[in-house]
Amino acid sequence: MRKNLTQLDKKYVWHPFTQMRDWLREDPLIVKEGRGVYLKDMHGRWFIDGVSSLWVNVHGHRNKEIDSAVKKQLGKIAHSTFLGLSHEKAILLARQLIGIVPPGLNKVFYSDNGSTSVEIALKMCFQYWRHKGMAGKTKFIYFNNSYHGDTVGSVSVGGINLFHNIYKPLLFGSYMAGFCEKKLETLLKRHHKKIAALIIEPLIQGAGGMLLCPSGFLKKARLLCSRYDILFIADEVATGFGRTGKMFACEHEKVRPDVMCLGKGITGGYLPLAATITSDKIYRAFLGYYGHKKTFFHGHSYTANPLACSAALANLKIFKKEKTLQKLKPKINYLKIQLKVFQGLKNVKEVRQLGFMVGIELIKNKKAGTPYHWEERIGLKVVNEARKRGAILRPLGNVIVLMPALNISMNTLKKLLKITYQSIVSATGNVK
Ligand SMILES: Cc1ncc(COP(=O)(O)O)c(C=O)c1O
Repeated sequence: MRKNLTQLDKKYVWHPFTQMRDWLREDPLIVKEGRGVYLKDMHGRWFIDGVSSLWVNVHGHRNKEIDSAVKKQLGKIAHSTFLGLSHEKAILLARQLIGIVPPGLNKVFYSDNGSTSVEIALKMCFQYWRHKGMAGKTKFIYFNNSYHGDTVGSVSVGGINLFHNIYKPLLFGSYMAGFCEKKLETLLKRHHKKIAALIIEPLIQGAGGMLLCPSGFLKKARLLCSRYDILFIADEVATGFGRTGKMFACEHEKVRPDVMCLGKGITGGYLPLAATITSDKIYRAFLGYYGHKKTFFHGHSYTANPLACSAALANLKIFKKEKTLQKLKPKINYLKIQLKVFQGLKNVKEVRQLGFMVGIELIKNKKAGTPYHWEERIGLKVVNEARKRGAILRPLGNVIVLMPALNISMNTLKKLLKITYQSIVSATGNVK
């Protein structure tokens, strides 16, 4: 059966972000089951899920409460459209979300993945200015190394050359900024009449390689946007739902965005759901007679899927009941202490951490500052070593990412760190 599945996969499936030529030569890991922070493959081997199934899983796999919430909802209805209809779970979830996001955000617009939540944010901001009679404000500011998803709109505000450059002819022009307050202010001063919004991953750029934003920059960027009449979009798709140690990364600097994008962990990593949350100010600009064409003409077949909303409600309930964020604190501190050991490795350039988001950047020669060439795929080599030792990781180029579910036990966290350390040593061939 297993061999058969492997053959069928190779015959019929095209995997995301995967060079299929390589895939066809490898023996793929086929996941059969999950339990807590572990995944089991077709051979019956168990692995620690070191990246929470690509940053989505929050309270572990097969969490009793989320399982039962989804099953209960299945007993009622799996899906009905949200276009022209509503349903209980989406309404209740919207109320709960508004209770936890930064003040000033009052309206929830659902979709089904992080990219669409960003797409919606961009379209909303663009259209907002049209309704306000400032049709010239059509452009966006985004940051170098940013990642906001893979749809054409979200790629237009993406700053990772390897992923985004090829699509340039398809993209709308935007302004790219860096983490320099002065330069950002100059850009805003010069172009604010043309700029609809700024989009940022608060405090840490995930897919860019777990790159930390200088302390205070987020707040400053927010202030500048207010000063120059530019909407501020916080993309919390990766950072939301506790990953940085607080429910949302914006809380660290008490930032109130005009629009917030949520996805990934919103359902505890169970089902596809996303939300673009915005202020009454923006919402009200879309109100008017139908003939005035102020309607936000955007929606998806599975917008606000009831099963996903049920999972999301259970996810939020667990945060409260289990005091997840409180229990996370000692684990974050432990992680911080243990990561110092990695810094001593000969091929580790830098270790970056914000809460439970970790990036360990590898370097070929630390003294000479020579990086690994991206084609050497050192990250992949480490991941392969980790797999042999019982952990599933996924690198970002030369950066090894650790982002386990928040409910990982101290013991398993210890195990994960040990495997990661040994795997780096083995793949780079160097210790100190
Ligand atoms: C900050 C950020 N925004 C958006 C996305 C896109 O989310 P999705 O993969 O659900 O489309 C991601 C995915 O990694 C992300 O990290």
